[in-house]
Amino acid sequence: MAGNATKKKLRSQEWFDNPDNPGMTALYLERYLNYGLTRAELQSGKPIIGIAQTGSDLSPCNRHHVELAKRVREGIVSEGGIVLEFPCHPIQETGKRPTAGLDRNLAYLSLVEVLYGYPLDGVVLTIGCDKTTPALLMGAATVNIPAIALSVGPMLNGWHKGRRTGSGTIVWESRQRLSAGEIDYEEFMQIVSSSAPSVGYCNTMGTATTMNSLAEALGMQLPGSAAIPAPYRERGQIAYETGRRIVGMVEEDLKPSDIMTREAFENAIVVNSAIGGSTNAPIHLNAIARHLGVPLDNDDWQRIGHKIPLLVNLQPAGEYLGEDYHHAGGVQAVVRELIKADLLPHPNALTANGAAIGENSSYIKTENYEVIRSVADPLKKEAGFINLRGNLFDSAIMKTSVISEEFQTRYLSNPDDPMAFEGPAMVFDGPEDYHARIDDPALGIDEHTILFMRGAGPVGYPGAAEVVNMQPPAYLIKKGIHALPCIGDGRQSGTSGSPSILNASPEAAAGGGLALLRTGDRVRIDLKAGRADILISDEELAQRRAALQAEGGYKYPAHQTPWQEIQRTFVNQMAEGAILLPAAKYQDIAHRNGVPRDNH
Ligand code: FES
Ligand code: MG
Repeated sequence: MAGNATKKKLRSQEWFDNPDNPGMTALYLERYLNYGLTRAELQSGKPIIGIAQTGSDLSPCNRHHVELAKRVREGIVSEGGIVLEFPCHPIQETGKRPTAGLDRNLAYLSLVEVLYGYPLDGVVLTIGCDKTTPALLMGAATVNIPAIALSVGPMLNGWHKGRRTGSGTIVWESRQRLSAGEIDYEEFMQIVSSSAPSVGYCNTMGTATTMNSLAEALGMQLPGSAAIPAPYRERGQIAYETGRRIVGMVEEDLKPSDIMTREAFENAIVVNSAIGGSTNAPIHLNAIARHLGVPLDNDDWQRIGHKIPLLVNLQPAGEYLGEDYHHAGGVQAVVRELIKADLLPHPNALTANGAAIGENSSYIKTENYEVIRSVADPLKKEAGFINLRGNLFDSAIMKTSVISEEFQTRYLSNPDDPMAFEGPAMVFDGPEDYHARIDDPALGIDEHTILFMRGAGPVGYPGAAEVVNMQPPAYLIKKGIHALPCIGDGRQSGTSGSPSILNASPEAAAGGGLALLRTGDRVRIDLKAGRADILISDEELAQRRAALQAEGGYKYPAHQTPWQEIQRTFVNQMAEGAILLPAAKYQDIAHRNGVPRDNH
């Protein structure tokens, strides 16, 4: 590391090498020596690189990062960096109650404090399970020190009796078969367990594969890294390369704000449509963008993404799973197919390796056109989200790539009105209400009914739970009706193949029109006009609103923890990213605010 004297002073030197304040320098230094680091190392001017560790026994999707971090370290050290690994608030999508959605902002907050308040010059973000990816990218966006993401990779493909069983998707499918009496509890458990055969995250195109793919499309991972399955040797190798690269990024001062530009987000929206990405993606990308000060909203998602074709044949929209996606070429092959058809808006957008996204994929060939289709032969012609508005909400999105034949035929095939349907509402206040009543024949639910879920948003739940994908009553499933239209102010699992209308903003608990809806009201959904309305007069709506306000507004359960109360106080709505509102004004703090004050 010759020539340090001419280099820009590193942030970490404010802690470890500040002769103007020897007392504090000694205090900062001495405890980092106690496990074997030397003073010479810490005062050498080598960049200090954090590894933001999201893996733990509580977060099995990301647990393999504990192993991968060893290769990351070797990469960092080989390029002359020093490693300080630290734990992140654990988030496990399937393990955390009331929802992991509540924890994303908490993990974000704590990461911001760590990155800003400790002697770190750059950071490797260990991403994977759904909320870990946005939480870490949001934190890096706010602090804005050089950062690179490393995906933990998907699990191997699941198999049961010769069929691929995909994470989550198999649960939604098998619970219908359980309800219909086709399988028993024991077989149900066996089938579902078969979908998790190894370390890694969900092997379907759920929120994890989506967000990891988009982290690569945004430029925040090394090219070719997102899709490598967790147990593959290439996963360890890319961990090593990621460690090597972050040292160079610190030397170049290549920051999240240099990579995650408006252009990068537009690329990511296009890639999201092509992969059949999760309905959670707009929430998370809108959130990351807000922490960077990049304008992005759900109208952008429809305008830029709606007409993009579905290329990736992964469950739930298609057939295959993570290993197949990797072997077919992963994100780079998707990017290449889009560029060949001139559909990627910004091939020149910069990525973490210092090259443009188009350059990175220029030599890539799709290895299996059954798994990653060409634009000329897509799985669906228009696969992006539709952004709906009306007297029910200001914004809610529908994922068009998962509209099944059955759904298309039943709801979207009226020759006079092909993109619209109407029906009576059946309203549930939270999933407990739904589970208690759905199978009650007295409700009269039939194939014309539209199911509503409310009280499930960032404030109401709290945290916005994945509860909008409701299955029809068992008596309808037995008759062959596998899906009713579902609408709600919660989210749904990215592994669900339900074409629900969700993430409704504002939610019922924040004064949205859903709170005024009553069971039996007729509702009209018009996908062409982008409308979702209760078919009642404005006067009637105003009367209902006044009555609800007189009762004190829409009721939701009491806070159970301090964080639930804090989140409810400060969170905004899903269309705006469901971020903590006061956090949006803290952008680029490492550059605007220098370093924090001394601690003694
Ligand atoms: Fe963690 Fe799907 S539950 S990735
Ligand atoms: Mg989920």
